[in-house]
Amino acid sequence: MPCPTLPEGFDFTDPDVYQSRVPLPEFARLRRTAPVWWNAQPHGIAGFGDDGYWVVTRHEDVKEVSTKPEIFSANLNTSIIRFHASLTRDQIDVQKLIMLNMDPPEHTRVRQIVQRGFTPRSIRALEDALRHRAARIVAEARQRPTGNFVTDIASELPLQAIAELIGIPQDDRARIFDWSNKMIAYDDPELAITEEVGTEAAMELISYAMNLAAARKECPAKDIVSRLVAAEDEGNLGSDEFGFFVLLLAVAGNETTRNAITHGMHAFLTHRDQWELYKRERPATAAEEIVRWATPVVSFQRTATQDTELGGAEIKQGQRVGIFYASANHDPEVFDRPELFDITRDPNPHLGFGGGGPHFCLGKSLAVLEINLIFHAIADAMPGISLAGDPRRLRSSWLNGVKELQVRYG
Ligand code: HEM
Repeated sequence: MPCPTLPEGFDFTDPDVYQSRVPLPEFARLRRTAPVWWNAQPHGIAGFGDDGYWVVTRHEDVKEVSTKPEIFSANLNTSIIRFHASLTRDQIDVQKLIMLNMDPPEHTRVRQIVQRGFTPRSIRALEDALRHRAARIVAEARQRPTGNFVTDIASELPLQAIAELIGIPQDDRARIFDWSNKMIAYDDPELAITEEVGTEAAMELISYAMNLAAARKECPAKDIVSRLVAAEDEGNLGSDEFGFFVLLLAVAGNETTRNAITHGMHAFLTHRDQWELYKRERPATAAEEIVRWATPVVSFQRTATQDTELGGAEIKQGQRVGIFYASANHDPEVFDRPELFDITRDPNPHLGFGGGGPHFCLGKSLAVLEINLIFHAIADAMPGISLAGDPRRLRSSWLNGVKELQVRYG
Protein backbone atom coordinates (compact mmCIF):
# COMPACT_ATOMS: atom_id res chain seq x y z
CA MET A 1 0.00 0.00 0.00
CA PRO A 2 1.37 3.48 -0.83
CA CYS A 3 2.59 5.59 2.05
CA PRO A 4 0.02 7.99 3.50
CA THR A 5 1.31 11.56 3.37
CA LEU A 6 -1.42 13.38 5.23
CA PRO A 7 -0.92 14.98 8.61
CA GLU A 8 -1.81 12.44 11.27
CA GLY A 9 -5.37 12.63 12.40
CA PHE A 10 -6.71 14.74 9.55
CA ASP A 11 -10.41 14.13 9.76
CA PHE A 12 -12.61 14.73 6.78
CA THR A 13 -15.76 14.31 8.81
CA ASP A 14 -14.81 16.97 11.31
CA PRO A 15 -17.56 19.53 10.74
CA ASP A 16 -15.07 22.36 11.17
CA VAL A 17 -12.84 20.94 8.47
CA TYR A 18 -15.71 20.61 6.06
CA GLN A 19 -16.88 24.17 6.45
CA SER A 20 -14.60 25.24 3.66
CA ARG A 21 -13.57 23.36 0.54
CA VAL A 22 -10.18 22.70 2.15
CA PRO A 23 -10.68 18.93 1.87
CA LEU A 24 -10.63 18.99 -1.92
CA PRO A 25 -6.84 19.45 -2.23
CA GLU A 26 -6.42 16.91 0.56
CA PHE A 27 -8.57 14.43 -1.32
CA ALA A 28 -6.45 15.02 -4.44
CA ARG A 29 -3.34 14.17 -2.43
CA LEU A 30 -4.93 11.00 -1.12
CA ARG A 31 -6.14 9.85 -4.54
CA ARG A 32 -2.53 10.14 -5.73
CA THR A 33 -0.72 8.72 -2.74
CA ALA A 34 -3.07 6.59 -0.63
CA PRO A 35 -6.45 6.25 -2.34
CA VAL A 36 -7.82 4.06 0.44
CA TRP A 37 -6.35 5.64 3.56
CA TRP A 38 -6.68 4.58 7.19
CA ASN A 39 -7.83 7.54 9.24
CA ALA A 40 -7.05 6.91 12.90
CA GLN A 41 -10.05 8.77 14.26
CA PRO A 42 -11.94 6.70 16.83
CA HIS A 43 -15.68 6.82 16.49
CA GLY A 44 -15.96 8.62 19.78
CA ILE A 45 -19.20 6.91 20.77
CA ALA A 46 -19.12 4.23 23.41
CA GLY A 47 -20.07 0.83 22.08
CA PHE A 48 -18.39 1.18 18.71
CA GLY A 49 -15.03 0.00 19.96
CA ASP A 50 -13.17 0.89 16.77
CA ASP A 51 -10.17 3.09 16.28
CA GLY A 52 -10.78 4.69 12.91
CA TYR A 53 -12.17 4.23 9.43
CA TRP A 54 -10.93 3.90 5.85
CA VAL A 55 -11.19 6.99 3.63
CA VAL A 56 -12.09 5.88 0.08
CA THR A 57 -11.31 8.64 -2.38
CA ARG A 58 -11.25 7.29 -5.94
CA HIS A 59 -14.33 7.19 -8.19
CA GLU A 60 -13.72 3.56 -9.07
CA ASP A 61 -13.40 2.43 -5.43
CA VAL A 62 -16.46 4.38 -4.25
CA LYS A 63 -18.45 2.55 -6.94
CA GLU A 64 -17.04 -0.79 -5.90
CA VAL A 65 -18.02 -0.32 -2.25
CA SER A 66 -21.50 0.94 -3.20
CA THR A 67 -22.30 -1.99 -5.47
CA LYS A 68 -21.20 -4.83 -3.16
CA PRO A 69 -23.66 -4.81 -0.25
CA GLU A 70 -22.73 -8.38 0.68
CA ILE A 71 -19.18 -7.21 1.51
CA PHE A 72 -19.92 -3.63 2.55
CA SER A 73 -22.91 -3.38 4.86
CA ALA A 74 -24.96 -0.22 5.30
CA ASN A 75 -26.59 -1.74 8.36
CA LEU A 76 -23.85 -2.78 10.81
CA ASN A 77 -22.87 0.76 11.82
CA THR A 78 -25.39 2.72 9.69
CA SER A 79 -24.41 5.03 6.82
CA ILE A 80 -23.29 8.07 8.83
CA ILE A 81 -19.58 8.21 9.69
CA ARG A 82 -19.77 10.69 12.53
CA PHE A 83 -22.73 11.18 14.81
CA HIS A 84 -22.99 13.80 17.50
CA ALA A 85 -20.73 12.78 20.37
CA SER A 86 -23.55 12.73 22.90
CA LEU A 87 -25.44 9.92 21.13
CA THR A 88 -25.41 6.40 22.56
CA ARG A 89 -24.95 3.18 20.63
CA ASP A 90 -28.62 2.35 21.28
CA GLN A 91 -29.77 5.64 19.79
CA ILE A 92 -27.67 4.98 16.71
CA ASP A 93 -29.05 1.46 16.39
CA VAL A 94 -32.60 2.85 16.19
CA GLN A 95 -31.56 4.46 12.90
CA LYS A 96 -31.26 0.99 11.40
CA LEU A 97 -35.03 1.19 10.90
CA ILE A 98 -34.38 3.71 8.12
CA MET A 99 -34.11 2.20 4.63
CA LEU A 100 -30.79 3.93 3.98
CA ASN A 101 -29.31 1.84 6.79
CA MET A 102 -30.74 -1.55 5.79
CA ASP A 103 -29.11 -4.45 3.95
CA PRO A 104 -30.72 -6.94 1.60
CA PRO A 105 -33.05 -8.80 1.86
CA GLU A 106 -34.86 -6.38 4.22
CA HIS A 107 -33.79 -3.40 2.16
CA THR A 108 -34.97 -5.06 -1.05
CA ARG A 109 -38.47 -5.58 0.36
CA VAL A 110 -38.89 -1.99 1.58
CA ARG A 111 -37.32 -0.46 -1.53
CA GLN A 112 -39.65 -2.44 -3.80
CA ILE A 113 -42.63 -1.04 -1.96
CA VAL A 114 -41.58 2.61 -1.78
CA GLN A 115 -40.44 2.59 -5.38
CA ARG A 116 -44.13 2.59 -6.34
CA GLY A 117 -44.29 6.22 -5.31
CA PHE A 118 -41.32 7.20 -7.47
CA THR A 119 -42.22 5.83 -10.89
CA PRO A 120 -41.52 8.15 -13.85
CA ARG A 121 -45.30 8.52 -14.10
CA SER A 122 -45.71 9.71 -10.50
CA ILE A 123 -42.87 12.19 -10.91
CA ARG A 124 -44.27 13.48 -14.23
CA ALA A 125 -47.62 13.93 -12.52
CA LEU A 126 -46.00 16.45 -10.16
CA GLU A 127 -44.34 18.48 -12.90
CA ASP A 128 -47.06 21.02 -13.63
CA ALA A 129 -47.78 21.68 -9.96
CA LEU A 130 -44.07 22.11 -9.23
CA ARG A 131 -43.49 24.39 -12.24
CA HIS A 132 -46.24 26.58 -10.99
CA ARG A 133 -44.80 26.61 -7.47
CA ALA A 134 -41.30 27.38 -8.73
CA ALA A 135 -42.59 30.42 -10.61
CA ARG A 136 -44.50 31.57 -7.51
CA ILE A 137 -41.52 31.14 -5.17
CA VAL A 138 -39.33 33.21 -7.47
CA ALA A 139 -42.01 35.88 -8.01
CA GLU A 140 -42.44 36.26 -4.25
CA ALA A 141 -38.70 36.61 -3.66
CA ARG A 142 -38.54 39.23 -6.38
CA GLN A 143 -40.76 41.55 -4.36
CA ARG A 144 -37.70 42.26 -2.22
CA PRO A 145 -34.49 43.89 -3.46
CA THR A 146 -32.23 41.48 -1.54
CA GLY A 147 -32.56 38.40 0.62
CA ASN A 148 -31.24 35.07 1.81
CA PHE A 149 -31.47 32.82 -1.24
CA VAL A 150 -31.50 29.70 0.95
CA THR A 151 -34.69 30.48 2.82
CA ASP A 152 -36.36 32.59 0.11
CA ILE A 153 -35.87 30.22 -2.82
CA ALA A 154 -33.74 27.09 -2.40
CA SER A 155 -35.60 25.53 0.53
CA GLU A 156 -39.13 26.02 -0.68
CA LEU A 157 -39.45 23.81 -3.75
CA PRO A 158 -37.91 20.62 -2.27
CA LEU A 159 -40.20 20.94 0.71
CA GLN A 160 -43.26 21.48 -1.45
CA ALA A 161 -42.23 18.60 -3.73
CA ILE A 162 -42.07 16.08 -0.90
CA ALA A 163 -45.23 17.39 0.69
CA GLU A 164 -46.95 17.15 -2.70
CA LEU A 165 -45.59 13.65 -3.31
CA ILE A 166 -46.66 12.32 0.06
CA GLY A 167 -49.89 14.28 0.16
CA ILE A 168 -49.15 16.34 3.28
CA PRO A 169 -51.86 18.97 3.79
CA GLN A 170 -50.74 22.54 3.05
CA ASP A 171 -51.27 23.70 6.64
CA ASP A 172 -48.85 21.09 8.03
CA ARG A 173 -45.98 21.82 5.66
CA ALA A 174 -44.23 24.46 7.76
CA ARG A 175 -44.00 21.99 10.64
CA ILE A 176 -42.33 19.35 8.44
CA PHE A 177 -39.81 21.97 7.35
CA ASP A 178 -39.04 22.96 10.91
CA TRP A 179 -38.61 19.36 12.08
CA SER A 180 -36.32 18.41 9.21
CA ASN A 181 -34.14 21.49 9.82
CA LYS A 182 -33.77 20.63 13.47
CA MET A 183 -32.79 17.05 12.70
CA ILE A 184 -29.67 17.97 10.76
CA ALA A 185 -28.59 21.12 12.59
CA TYR A 186 -27.14 19.54 15.73
CA ASP A 187 -23.49 20.03 14.68
CA ASP A 188 -23.88 23.77 14.19
CA PRO A 189 -23.60 25.70 17.47
CA GLU A 190 -24.89 28.89 15.89
CA LEU A 191 -28.27 27.29 15.36
CA ALA A 192 -28.33 26.32 19.04
CA ILE A 193 -30.09 23.04 18.36
CA THR A 194 -29.16 20.45 20.93
CA GLU A 195 -29.11 16.74 20.20
CA GLU A 196 -32.27 16.39 22.33
CA VAL A 197 -34.10 18.97 20.24
CA GLY A 198 -33.02 17.09 17.09
CA THR A 199 -34.20 13.76 18.47
CA GLU A 200 -37.47 15.29 19.62
CA ALA A 201 -38.06 16.74 16.16
CA ALA A 202 -37.43 13.30 14.61
CA MET A 203 -39.89 11.69 17.00
CA GLU A 204 -42.53 14.32 16.25
CA LEU A 205 -42.10 13.85 12.53
CA ILE A 206 -42.33 10.05 12.80
CA SER A 207 -45.41 10.25 14.94
CA TYR A 208 -47.01 12.77 12.54
CA ALA A 209 -46.34 10.39 9.62
CA MET A 210 -47.63 7.37 11.52
CA ASN A 211 -50.89 9.18 12.23
CA LEU A 212 -51.16 10.16 8.58
CA ALA A 213 -50.63 6.52 7.58
CA ALA A 214 -53.28 5.34 10.02
CA ALA A 215 -55.74 7.93 8.70
CA ARG A 216 -55.11 6.91 5.08
CA LYS A 217 -55.53 3.27 5.96
CA GLU A 218 -59.03 4.08 7.15
CA CYS A 219 -59.89 6.45 4.34
CA PRO A 220 -57.61 5.87 1.36
CA ALA A 221 -56.96 8.91 -0.85
CA LYS A 222 -55.26 9.20 -4.21
CA ASP A 223 -51.79 9.76 -2.81
CA ILE A 224 -48.61 7.81 -2.23
CA VAL A 225 -49.36 7.28 1.46
CA SER A 226 -52.50 5.38 0.60
CA ARG A 227 -50.66 3.33 -2.01
CA LEU A 228 -47.84 2.40 0.38
CA VAL A 229 -49.88 1.55 3.45
CA ALA A 230 -53.27 0.47 2.10
CA ALA A 231 -53.13 -3.04 3.57
CA GLU A 232 -50.58 -4.22 6.07
CA ASP A 233 -49.09 -7.32 4.49
CA GLU A 234 -45.78 -8.26 2.85
CA GLY A 235 -46.47 -5.87 -0.02
CA ASN A 236 -47.15 -2.78 2.06
CA LEU A 237 -45.50 -0.69 4.73
CA GLY A 238 -46.63 -0.81 8.33
CA SER A 239 -47.47 2.60 9.87
CA ASP A 240 -44.15 2.59 11.76
CA GLU A 241 -42.20 1.73 8.60
CA PHE A 242 -43.98 4.57 6.86
CA GLY A 243 -43.02 6.90 9.73
CA PHE A 244 -39.33 6.14 9.26
CA PHE A 245 -39.66 6.46 5.50
CA VAL A 246 -41.04 9.99 5.83
CA LEU A 247 -38.21 10.80 8.22
CA LEU A 248 -35.71 9.70 5.58
CA LEU A 249 -37.48 11.68 2.85
CA ALA A 250 -37.49 14.80 4.99
CA VAL A 251 -33.70 14.74 5.23
CA ALA A 252 -32.76 12.92 2.01
CA GLY A 253 -35.11 14.91 -0.17
CA ASN A 254 -35.12 18.34 1.45
CA GLU A 255 -31.68 19.13 2.68
CA THR A 256 -29.85 17.64 -0.30
CA THR A 257 -31.86 19.37 -3.02
CA ARG A 258 -31.86 22.67 -1.16
CA ASN A 259 -28.08 22.63 -1.03
CA ALA A 260 -27.72 21.57 -4.66
CA ILE A 261 -29.84 24.59 -5.64
CA THR A 262 -27.90 26.97 -3.37
CA HIS A 263 -24.47 25.76 -4.49
CA GLY A 264 -25.71 25.83 -8.08
CA MET A 265 -26.78 29.47 -7.75
CA HIS A 266 -23.50 30.38 -6.12
CA ALA A 267 -21.59 28.60 -8.89
CA PHE A 268 -23.57 30.46 -11.57
CA LEU A 269 -22.99 33.81 -9.88
CA THR A 270 -19.27 33.22 -9.55
CA HIS A 271 -18.97 31.81 -13.11
CA ARG A 272 -20.90 34.47 -15.01
CA ASP A 273 -20.15 32.91 -18.40
CA GLN A 274 -22.02 29.77 -17.29
CA TRP A 275 -25.00 31.85 -16.15
CA GLU A 276 -25.12 33.67 -19.48
CA LEU A 277 -24.91 30.33 -21.28
CA TYR A 278 -27.63 28.88 -19.11
CA LYS A 279 -29.99 31.81 -19.71
CA ARG A 280 -29.44 31.54 -23.46
CA GLU A 281 -29.45 27.80 -24.03
CA ARG A 282 -30.79 26.07 -20.91
CA PRO A 283 -28.69 22.94 -21.52
CA ALA A 284 -30.28 19.73 -20.25
CA THR A 285 -26.88 18.74 -18.83
CA ALA A 286 -26.85 21.60 -16.28
CA ALA A 287 -28.64 19.86 -13.39
CA GLU A 288 -26.19 16.94 -13.27
CA GLU A 289 -23.21 19.30 -13.26
CA ILE A 290 -24.79 21.29 -10.44
CA VAL A 291 -25.08 18.10 -8.38
CA ARG A 292 -21.49 17.08 -9.19
CA TRP A 293 -20.24 20.54 -8.26
CA ALA A 294 -22.28 20.75 -5.06
CA THR A 295 -22.04 17.11 -3.96
CA PRO A 296 -24.58 17.82 -1.20
CA VAL A 297 -23.85 14.49 0.50
CA VAL A 298 -20.11 14.61 1.14
CA SER A 299 -19.80 11.01 2.33
CA PHE A 300 -21.56 7.95 3.65
CA GLN A 301 -20.08 4.80 5.11
CA ARG A 302 -20.29 1.02 4.98
CA THR A 303 -18.83 -1.67 7.28
CA ALA A 304 -16.88 -4.67 5.97
CA THR A 305 -18.67 -7.98 6.57
CA GLN A 306 -15.46 -9.93 5.78
CA ASP A 307 -11.75 -9.36 5.20
CA THR A 308 -11.30 -7.87 1.77
CA GLU A 309 -8.98 -5.82 -0.45
CA LEU A 310 -9.80 -2.43 -1.91
CA GLY A 311 -7.55 -0.11 -3.89
CA GLY A 312 -4.46 -1.82 -2.47
CA ALA A 313 -5.61 -1.67 1.16
CA GLU A 314 -6.28 -4.73 3.33
CA ILE A 315 -9.64 -4.13 4.98
CA LYS A 316 -10.52 -6.26 7.99
CA GLN A 317 -13.98 -7.57 8.81
CA GLY A 318 -15.82 -5.06 11.02
CA GLN A 319 -13.82 -2.02 9.86
CA ARG A 320 -15.71 1.03 8.70
CA VAL A 321 -15.23 2.34 5.17
CA GLY A 322 -16.06 6.00 4.39
CA ILE A 323 -17.06 6.60 0.77
CA PHE A 324 -16.29 10.17 -0.17
CA TYR A 325 -18.53 11.23 -3.04
CA ALA A 326 -16.98 14.71 -2.91
CA SER A 327 -13.61 13.22 -3.77
CA ALA A 328 -14.93 10.80 -6.41
CA ASN A 329 -16.64 13.73 -8.15
CA HIS A 330 -13.30 15.47 -8.57
CA ASP A 331 -11.35 12.42 -9.74
CA PRO A 332 -9.32 13.46 -12.80
CA GLU A 333 -9.22 9.82 -13.97
CA VAL A 334 -12.91 10.20 -14.76
CA PHE A 335 -13.57 13.93 -15.22
CA ASP A 336 -11.80 16.16 -17.64
CA ARG A 337 -10.73 19.26 -15.68
CA PRO A 338 -12.91 18.46 -12.66
CA GLU A 339 -12.17 21.88 -11.14
CA LEU A 340 -14.24 23.54 -13.89
CA PHE A 341 -17.93 24.23 -13.44
CA ASP A 342 -19.12 23.29 -16.91
CA ILE A 343 -22.87 22.96 -17.40
CA THR A 344 -22.40 21.29 -20.77
CA ARG A 345 -20.28 18.47 -19.29
CA ASP A 346 -21.32 15.28 -21.05
CA PRO A 347 -20.94 12.49 -20.13
CA ASN A 348 -21.03 13.30 -16.44
CA PRO A 349 -20.82 10.04 -14.45
CA HIS A 350 -20.74 11.81 -11.08
CA LEU A 351 -21.56 9.95 -7.86
CA GLY A 352 -23.53 12.74 -6.18
CA PHE A 353 -26.58 10.48 -6.04
CA GLY A 354 -24.52 7.52 -4.84
CA GLY A 355 -22.16 5.05 -6.41
CA GLY A 356 -24.83 2.75 -7.89
CA GLY A 357 -25.97 -0.36 -6.09
CA PRO A 358 -29.06 -0.96 -3.97
CA HIS A 359 -29.15 2.41 -2.16
CA PHE A 360 -28.77 4.61 -5.23
CA CYS A 361 -30.84 7.75 -4.66
CA LEU A 362 -34.51 6.96 -4.98
CA GLY A 363 -35.39 10.61 -5.60
CA LYS A 364 -32.89 11.37 -8.35
CA SER A 365 -35.47 12.13 -11.07
CA LEU A 366 -37.44 14.31 -8.69
CA ALA A 367 -34.28 16.19 -7.65
CA VAL A 368 -33.24 16.77 -11.27
CA LEU A 369 -36.75 17.98 -12.10
CA GLU A 370 -36.73 20.43 -9.18
CA ILE A 371 -33.31 21.80 -10.05
CA ASN A 372 -34.38 22.33 -13.68
CA LEU A 373 -37.67 23.97 -12.73
CA ILE A 374 -36.19 26.40 -10.22
CA PHE A 375 -33.33 27.54 -12.45
CA HIS A 376 -35.69 27.99 -15.40
CA ALA A 377 -37.90 30.14 -13.17
CA ILE A 378 -34.93 32.19 -11.91
CA ALA A 379 -33.53 32.69 -15.41
CA ASP A 380 -36.97 33.80 -16.66
CA ALA A 381 -37.92 36.14 -13.83
CA MET A 382 -34.67 37.44 -12.34
CA PRO A 383 -31.92 37.13 -14.96
CA GLY A 384 -29.98 39.94 -13.27
CA ILE A 385 -29.64 38.18 -9.90
CA SER A 386 -26.25 38.85 -8.29
CA LEU A 387 -24.27 38.01 -5.17
CA ALA A 388 -24.48 40.25 -2.12
CA GLY A 389 -22.24 38.22 0.21
CA ASP A 390 -20.30 35.02 0.71
CA PRO A 391 -22.15 31.81 1.55
CA ARG A 392 -22.33 30.97 5.24
CA ARG A 393 -21.91 27.27 5.62
CA LEU A 394 -23.71 24.81 7.84
CA ARG A 395 -21.45 23.07 10.30
CA SER A 396 -22.13 19.43 9.49
CA SER A 397 -20.10 16.25 9.25
CA TRP A 398 -21.74 14.85 6.11
CA LEU A 399 -23.91 17.48 4.46
CA ASN A 400 -22.34 20.13 2.27
CA GLY A 401 -24.78 22.68 3.59
CA VAL A 402 -25.23 26.43 3.26
CA LYS A 403 -27.46 28.29 5.66
CA GLU A 404 -27.19 31.76 4.18
CA LEU A 405 -26.45 33.19 0.75
CA GLN A 406 -27.29 36.87 0.41
CA VAL A 407 -28.25 37.92 -3.11
CA ARG A 408 -29.71 40.91 -4.93
CA TYR A 409 -32.76 39.79 -6.83
CA GLY A 410 -32.20 42.41 -9.50
C1 HEM B 1 -29.67 16.84 -5.26
C2 HEM B 1 -30.44 16.13 -4.47
C3 HEM B 1 -30.09 14.78 -3.90
C4 HEM B 1 -28.88 14.21 -3.66
C5 HEM B 1 -27.50 14.82 -3.90
C6 HEM B 1 -29.12 12.90 -3.09
C7 HEM B 1 -28.12 12.02 -2.73
C8 HEM B 1 -28.34 10.74 -2.24
C9 HEM B 1 -27.31 9.80 -1.88
C10 HEM B 1 -25.81 10.07 -1.97
C11 HEM B 1 -27.91 8.67 -1.45
C12 HEM B 1 -27.21 7.39 -0.94
C13 HEM B 1 -26.79 6.51 -2.06
C14 HEM B 1 -26.06 5.29 -1.60
O1 HEM B 1 -25.91 5.05 -0.39
O2 HEM B 1 -25.62 4.52 -2.47
C15 HEM B 1 -29.33 8.89 -1.52
C16 HEM B 1 -30.29 7.98 -1.12
C17 HEM B 1 -31.63 8.27 -1.05
N1 HEM B 1 -32.25 9.41 -1.53
FE1 HEM B 1 -31.39 10.99 -2.40
N2 HEM B 1 -30.46 12.72 -2.99
C18 HEM B 1 -31.09 13.83 -3.48
C19 HEM B 1 -32.46 14.03 -3.57
C20 HEM B 1 -33.42 13.16 -3.13
C21 HEM B 1 -34.84 13.39 -3.18
C22 HEM B 1 -35.52 14.62 -3.80
C23 HEM B 1 -35.43 12.31 -2.58
C24 HEM B 1 -36.88 12.02 -2.35
C25 HEM B 1 -37.85 12.86 -2.36
C26 HEM B 1 -34.39 11.41 -2.17
C27 HEM B 1 -34.59 10.20 -1.55
C28 HEM B 1 -33.60 9.30 -1.25
C29 HEM B 1 -33.85 8.04 -0.57
C30 HEM B 1 -35.19 7.52 -0.08
C31 HEM B 1 -32.61 7.40 -0.44
C32 HEM B 1 -32.33 6.04 0.21
C33 HEM B 1 -32.38 4.97 -0.84
C34 HEM B 1 -32.09 3.59 -0.30
O3 HEM B 1 -31.54 3.45 0.79
O4 HEM B 1 -32.46 2.63 -0.99
N3 HEM B 1 -33.18 11.95 -2.52
N4 HEM B 1 -29.58 10.15 -2.02
